Amino acid sequence: MNICFEQLSKQYKTGRGVVDALRAFDLTIGDGQLFIILGPSGCGKSTLLNLAAGLEEPSAGTIRFGERVVASAEEHIFLEPGERNVAMVFQSYALYPHMKVFDNIAFPLRNARRKAHEIRLSVQRTAAMLGIDDLLARKPAELSGGQRQRVAIARAMVRQPSVLLLDEPLSNLDAQLRMATRAELKRLQMEMAVTTLYVTHDQTEAMTLGDQVALLKKGRLVQAGTPYALYHHPATPFAATFIGSPPMNLIPARLATSATEYYAWVNDRKIALSAELKAKAASLPTGRILLGIRPEHLRFTDQGQLEGVITYTESLGREIVYRVACAGHEVLVLADHPARETGRSVALAFDSAAVHLFPATEPADDPPDKPPLHGRPPRHG
Ligand SMILES: Nc1ncnc2c1ncn2[C@@H]1O[C@H](COP(=O)(O)OP(=O)(O)OP(=O)(O)O)[C@@H](O)[C@H]1O
Ligand SMILES: [Mg+2]
Repeated sequence: MNICFEQLSKQYKTGRGVVDALRAFDLTIGDGQLFIILGPSGCGKSTLLNLAAGLEEPSAGTIRFGERVVASAEEHIFLEPGERNVAMVFQSYALYPHMKVFDNIAFPLRNARRKAHEIRLSVQRTAAMLGIDDLLARKPAELSGGQRQRVAIARAMVRQPSVLLLDEPLSNLDAQLRMATRAELKRLQMEMAVTTLYVTHDQTEAMTLGDQVALLKKGRLVQAGTPYALYHHPATPFAATFIGSPPMNLIPARLATSATEYYAWVNDRKIALSAELKAKAASLPTGRILLGIRPEHLRFTDQGQLEGVITYTESLGREIVYRVACAGHEVLVLADHPARETGRSVALAFDSAAVHLFPATEPADDPPDKPPLHGRPPRHG
């Protein structure tokens, strides 16, 4: 079942004024997709999930599950969580401590008054999928953090929901267990083909796990697309620096044109732009811009387009991050050269195809055409 958010907004009224947690948010999630909701703390990820689950009502806009409108501020429609067939694993999930693992997982099925033998089969099948079928007789206190997390996921999946909502479900796990559970979760999600929204603030997790990624900032959708598209064609400086580690360099430059060509000037260095960038360059006003180059696309050479001095090095194991003072700006270089020491003058080269162009300022977070706040709609259904 696909999910459609249309012009969705959520405002919280607090003692100190109104918080725009989500602003005119548009997104469609395809049937069976694993869609990642990515963004920094406070950008509205949990708000979006709570709206999809029916735990919050939108201030404006519409949510559709397939053809069915499950919430609409304008049409005064609001379906309760129980009417949506969604399952959610919360950011701070909790298991029932006095219940065995089996009973924790069986809980939603007992609530739905399923037959005992059917419950036993469903719990065993889901537990086996998550590799916790040998733990069914234990209490949560007798489990590791990772095992508990899997019980919470099993409890959400056991009902075979049509929509699965996961809010940072792996955040309590150590790095190794997170990677293993992530791979399992992906396999499970594909097997069940359940439309899934997965919230994370971790861009690596987003890139490795998602079919599609939606990047949010301050309640707004910045960009949605495949991990490949977000990495190779970031729409804004924010997207460029949020995705990829270490982050993309954004070097202040001046855009200039001649009759036939576009250039960027970094101080007195003239940098020719590739043919592919001409359409992008033509859409920017000449003058101040940002030149984006990923650290992994810079290399040390004898004669490069940029020059600088290494100020700091940081080992990542296989690779090294170099900080290079370059034209009054710090530039990061990712390389596997171990033999370049701090204080040394270096030249940096890059392919013009690896260059991104951005306007010098990020698009405004809060444009003046903000939709009005709607009152609390009366409940239906
Ligand atoms: N009940 C509430 N009342 C007032 N403000 C709220 C409420 N819930 C969330 N907010 C505010 O709305 C914004 C979005 O919050 P949300 O919880 O959706 O962020 P998030 O992206 O999930 O962040 P995190 O990664 O830290 O979990 C924040 O500024 C938050 O302070
Ligand atoms: Mg959250």
